[in-house]
Amino acid sequence: MTRLAGKVAMITGAGRGIGAAIASAFVREGAVVVLAELDIALARETAARIGSASNVLAVQTDVTQSASVQNAVSEGEAKFGAIDVLVNNAGINVFCDPLTMTDDDWRRCFAVDLDGVWNGCRAVLPGMVERGRGSIVNIAST
Ligand SMILES: NC(=O)c1ccc[n+]([C@@H]2O[C@H](COP(=O)([O-])OP(=O)(O)OC[C@H]3O[C@@H](n4cnc5c(N)ncnc54)[C@H](O)[C@@H]3O)[C@@H](O)[C@H]2O)c1
Repeated sequence: MTRLAGKVAMITGAGRGIGAAIASAFVREGAVVVLAELDIALARETAARIGSASNVLAVQTDVTQSASVQNAVSEGEAKFGAIDVLVNNAGINVFCDPLTMTDDDWRRCFAVDLDGVWNGCRAVLPGMVERGRGSIVNIAST
């Protein structure tokens, strides 16, 4: 099946886990995919495993930094064209006893899990609104 033929997707945190599985499924369905991942070595390994230079691009990205996310969008669009689908998947888990959780843990969690989603949306929404189409999928947790 190629339900996503002709689509350009960007998936954050796609070096491993759920993000890598989503990226792999998108490639199987015919999309070209930007792996926006903090760990670029991991992203490159995943890119080589799920596709080729013609349909997968790994870009070192820190979703907590708006300029970094904007750069990933720009690199992806330069190679593949406008982003049709953004999957805000990057997320970290700092679940622990609230009384032992540090302020840094708290801020890191919010920076990746919430600011990261905001930065992703803000980077792709102007283009999607201008084109009158596009999809954003946000992965959350309980
Ligand atoms: N695994 C689960 O059981 C589960 C359950 C519910 C929700 N989720 C959500 O699904 C998403 C993926 O979970 P997972 O289990 O695959 O996680 P994972 O830890 O296996 O993978 C997360 C990826 O995100 C990357 N990443 C971390 N910080 C980043 C940053 N600042 N910028 C860019 N990339 C960054 C990591 O390098 C890693 O490759 C998360 O948002 C998580 O909250 C997972």
